[in-house]
Amino acid sequence: MPTPQATPRFAHVLVIGAGGLVGGAFFARLARTGARVTGTSHSHPRAGLVPFELGPAPGPFLDAFAPELVVMASAMTHVDRCETEPAEVQRRNVDDLRPITEWCARHAVPLIYFSTDYVFDGTAGPYAEDAPPHPLSAYGRSKLAAEGLVAAVPRALVIRITNVFDIGFDDRNFVHRCVTHLRDRLPLVVPSDQLATPAYATWLADQGVTLLERGAILQPGSPRLLHAGCDDLVSRGELARRVAALLGADASLIEERSTADLHQAALRPLRGGLRSDHWKSLLGVERLPLDDALNDCLPRMRRLHAREI
Ligand SMILES: NC(=O)c1ccc[n+]([C@@H]2O[C@H](COP(=O)([O-])OP(=O)(O)OC[C@H]3O[C@@H](n4cnc5c(N)ncnc54)[C@H](OP(=O)(O)O)[C@@H]3O)[C@@H](O)[C@H]2O)c1
Repeated sequence: MPTPQATPRFAHVLVIGAGGLVGGAFFARLARTGARVTGTSHSHPRAGLVPFELGPAPGPFLDAFAPELVVMASAMTHVDRCETEPAEVQRRNVDDLRPITEWCARHAVPLIYFSTDYVFDGTAGPYAEDAPPHPLSAYGRSKLAAEGLVAAVPRALVIRITNVFDIGFDDRNFVHRCVTHLRDRLPLVVPSDQLATPAYATWLADQGVTLLERGAILQPGSPRLLHAGCDDLVSRGELARRVAALLGADASLIEERSTADLHQAALRPLRGGLRSDHWKSLLGVERLPLDDALNDCLPRMRRLHAREI
């Protein structure tokens, strides 16, 4: 998709969690609009980002930066750790979000928040926005509770995403990890039966900012919940094999196991994934094929594979 250089609708944007996969992509894309963009990091300090830790009283920090739009891309995202540390996930994903939503509501500042297909039980994916949620895990329950807080902000949008990939700063995302394992000839053990519709962070940010610039989101009457990602419903094993094929890497390193054999602490929605029909119709596109996204990411995958990144 071409990068429009329209006048930014929001002159100052705060991206909380700009050192992460999703926040980093939004931070970079928003910066190209000419808006003033402040991004925060927490435990991984990065040049150009402001240190910020979520907590019960973010008011002075938010007052000081006085953003016109908040993009909230920070959460406790390690699904199995969330399961074993329920108090921590409640604090970080729900309690620490509440004062952000309250500040946005009080100051009439719009908020974009990212949720997940883990709000569903994975019996009937890919899911449309109006499907009834039924989370199986502490992570999924915390994200559903967070959606409830965001719903109280007058101008807010929840974007549900899943299996986000890109070549990021580190290997906390699946495709990045696939590339490094294939490169280092390490066995890659992946679930064979967890299906989702991967989202490519670079596309997500480009599409989200395009919709912002067009005034298609965060306006009176515009959607308050959207599903976004690629069209293809694939297992982790299938995704790993597509990455190996693109790189010409040895796919025999990929070992697929059933979720039952992996003994993960948290239950997973097996047939998850999200239908992005509304997202696509707002964008005016018919299809968002996974292979196109992987091909767009391929030069960076290749550099990582060759240790040139
Ligand atoms: N990645 C996915 O596949 C996926 C799927 C569905 C939904 N989502 C949602 O999308 C959002 C972004 O996910 P992501 O994968 O991009 O996350 P990520 O890569 O783990 O990044 C999270 C960001 O939040 C910051 N952060 C973490 N704890 C913080 C705290 N207590 N205070 C302040 N900042 C903190 C991190 O900073 P430091 O690194 O500096 O600590 C990092 O910049 C999350 O809400 C997640 O639930 C992600």
